[in-house]
Amino acid sequence: MMRDRILTWLEHHVTPPRVQHILRVEQLCGELAEHHQLDVEKAKQAGLMHDLAKYFKPQRLLQMAQTEGLELDEIFAGEPHLLHADVSAMVARDEFGIKDPEILEAIRNHTLGRPQMSPLSCVVYLADTLEPGRGTTPELEQLRQTCFRNLVAAVWQTGDYCLRHLVEQQRMIHPRTILTRNWAMQESKGQHRTQKASASDRISA
Ligand SMILES: [Fe+2]
Ligand SMILES: [Fe+2]
Repeated sequence: MMRDRILTWLEHHVTPPRVQHILRVEQLCGELAEHHQLDVEKAKQAGLMHDLAKYFKPQRLLQMAQTEGLELDEIFAGEPHLLHADVSAMVARDEFGIKDPEILEAIRNHTLGRPQMSPLSCVVYLADTLEPGRGTTPELEQLRQTCFRNLVAAVWQTGDYCLRHLVEQQRMIHPRTILTRNWAMQESKGQHRTQKASASDRISA
């Protein structure tokens, strides 16, 4: 069984608390995918593999990213840990033979997101930040509810949440985090306008 192979691999490459995080992400990915009528198996696989390279050393991350021909901007160079998303997708492909581009993209996008990312990518991005182990503040609980109502609105609000935390903790912010948030905000306002327009069409008809 593929899942058992991945779990055994994880036991050797990440810490026990991280395995627990990964299992909670897998679970939430499955729930969100089911709720939004996406492919549940794909979502769970992406969740299970999203952090494969979490504990790879900075040097290894940089070297693997270079070999892959990824463009390394100065933020990746200064914070190689951000590359664990891209590198986890490479490990999923090379170690476990995952070929499905949607699964690989969802793993790649789990940390920074990406404008126009697929609903499956949104699911993994959200599950990583909002799995129950992340805490039970009112803000997180609110975001969890939004996830089940509207994926793209949840990506917008979760983007804002992450940005606030990065600012508070004086961490580097990768431009893609902002691009993802801007995309999700516009997309979700667009949805809202379309809904309002069709509601007023109905009224005037
Ligand atoms: Fe991660
Ligand atoms: Fe994670």
